[in-house]
Amino acid sequence: MNEVLDPEIVEDDESSLRPSDFDEYIGQTNLKENLKVFVGAAKLRDESLDHVLLYGPPGLGKTTMSMIIAHEMGTHIKITTGPSIEKTGDLVAILTALEPGDVLFIDEIHRLNKVVEEILYPAMEDFCIDVVIGKEASTRSVRIDLPPFTLVGATTRAGDLSAPLRDRFGIVSKLEYYSEEELTQIIDRTSRVYNIVMDDDAKGELARRSRGTPRIANRLFRRVRDFSQFYGDATITRDRTIEALERLKVDNLGLDDVDHKYLLGIIHRFKGGPVGLEAIAASIGEEPQTLEDVNEPYLLQIGLIKRTPRGRIATAEAYRHLNIEQDYE
Ligand SMILES: Nc1ncnc2c1ncn2[C@@H]1O[C@H](COP(=O)(O)OP(=O)(O)OP(=O)(O)O)[C@@H](O)[C@H]1O
Ligand SMILES: [Mg+2]
Repeated sequence: MNEVLDPEIVEDDESSLRPSDFDEYIGQTNLKENLKVFVGAAKLRDESLDHVLLYGPPGLGKTTMSMIIAHEMGTHIKITTGPSIEKTGDLVAILTALEPGDVLFIDEIHRLNKVVEEILYPAMEDFCIDVVIGKEASTRSVRIDLPPFTLVGATTRAGDLSAPLRDRFGIVSKLEYYSEEELTQIIDRTSRVYNIVMDDDAKGELARRSRGTPRIANRLFRRVRDFSQFYGDATITRDRTIEALERLKVDNLGLDDVDHKYLLGIIHRFKGGPVGLEAIAASIGEEPQTLEDVNEPYLLQIGLIKRTPRGRIATAEAYRHLNIEQDYE
C-alpha cells in the first residue's frame, strides 16, 4: 500500500490528474528517457534503483515523477517531507519499515535537520544505520541493516543541500519549464480527464499563460472551466479563456499580481536596478524566499530580469511588456 503523508497529493483532486507511468508523463524528455534506462537496467539486475535527486521550481512534476519511478519499478512509495522528520527516531522508524526495493520520497529535502541528515548517509551508502541505545555510561551503538531502497529527494533549492548529501545521489536531475506545446498536451489531457471540451486555440492560450508549469496550467484550467460553465458555454473558447484569465489577473505572459508588483518595484523604486532581493522584497511586502523560488526563476527564464553580482535588473523586455518608457540616464 502506498503511504501518503503529503497533503498536497489529496488537495484539489490533483491526484486524478497525475500521470502514472512514463508514457503518460508529458515533457522532461531528457530526464524521462534517462530514467527509463536506469529503471530498466536496475530491474534487469534485480536491484533497487540508485538514489535520485530531482530539483527545480515548484509544480513541474517532481512528486509525480517519484510516484512514477515507484510504479515503473513495481514497488511501493513512502512519501514524507524534510521538515516533518524532526528527530532521528522519526527517520529510523521510516527506514526500518521499508521493504526491499521501496521508494522513499523526501520532499523539501533541503530542510532536513543536520542530525537527521547524518543518519541518511550510511543508510544511502551501505543500507544500514547506527543507533545509539542505553543511557549514560552504558550507551552503545548498534548497527541495523536496512533493506535496499531508493531515496528520491526533491527540492526547489539544490544549492541549499549539503555536499555530503548531494554526493550520495547517483542520479541528479533538474526539471525544466515546459514548452507551450507540452503544456498544450497537458491541458488536452486534463480536459479529457474532466470530460470538458476546450477549443484548440483556447488550449494554446492557456498554455501560453501557464508560466511553463503543469500545476498552474491545471489550476487555471479549473478556473476557466468555472467561468465557462457558469456562463453556459458549450465548449471552452479562446475568448472565454482570455476573459477568465484577465479577471484572475493573469496577463498574456502568465504573470500575476506579485510578478507585476515585483517588476514595478524594481523599475519605480530602484530605477530598474541593480537591487538586492531583500530590498525589493521589503519594498513590496513579500517574502524573499518565495520571490526567489517561485517568481524569479520564471522571470529569468523569459528574460524580464537579469541577475548580476550587484543585484537584480529589469531588462528592456520588462519595460516593453509593462509598457513603460525606459529612462536612460
Ligand atoms: N509531465 C506531466 N504531465 C502531465 N501532468 C503533469 C506533469 N507534471 C506534473 N503534472 C501535473 O502537475 C501537478 C503538479 O505536479 P507535482 O506535484 O509533481 O509537482 P512538484 O514538482 O512536486 O511541485 P512542488 O515542488 O510544489 O512539490 C500534478 O498534479 C500533475 O497533475
Ligand atoms: Mg511536490
